[in-house]
Amino acid sequence: MKALVVFDLLYGNTQKIAEAVARGLKKTLEVDLRPVSRVSLADLKGIDILVVGSPTHGGRPTPAIQAFLDKLPDSSLAGIKVAAFDTRVLAEEQSFGLKILVKTLGYAAPKIAAALKAKGGQEVDSPTGFIVEGKEGPLKAGEVVRAEKWPVLRESR
Ligand SMILES: Cc1cc2nc3c(=O)[nH]c(=O)nc-3n(C[C@H](O)[C@H](O)[C@H](O)COP(=O)(O)O)c2cc1C
Repeated sequence: MKALVVFDLLYGNTQKIAEAVARGLKKTLEVDLRPVSRVSLADLKGIDILVVGSPTHGGRPTPAIQAFLDKLPDSSLAGIKVAAFDTRVLAEEQSFGLKILVKTLGYAAPKIAAALKAKGGQEVDSPTGFIVEGKEGPLKAGEVVRAEKWPVLRESR
């Protein structure tokens, strides 16, 4: 079985999570890890699993990840298992105003997951956020280890 892990980054934390996800999947699968700037529709050919991850910017995935999702043809993910993750700050640790903003805007992973499902993908694990301690990082302790165990490839829901 083949997996493709696509990610974007600004400061580098999302790449570290994507690398950890790829390491975990490599225990049982053949894995291709690609920054979104270097992925094309041809890379989807023959894959069984697609994982997409992005930093959360204004409650959404980055424009490059959004563009990648938008250009996936309708039904192109039929028969493909999908999972989405983001990196994000912890709302509770922000100042009052920012806390409200972060909570109101939401996060990238659920939006990525909805787009992947809209293109026919079968979600294998819940959209997941990995925590950075400030907007430039570092990742919160334990997040890389958590990423190595995600997604759990249970039967599609
Ligand atoms: C322009 C910008 C907007 C951001 N908006 C949010 C946000 O809405 N919610 C959130 O949790 N984090 C937000 N962040 C923090 C990012 O989640 C954090 O920078 C990112 O996870 C780090 O990943 P990277 O190192 O791969 O860039 C924002 C950061 C930037 C630079």
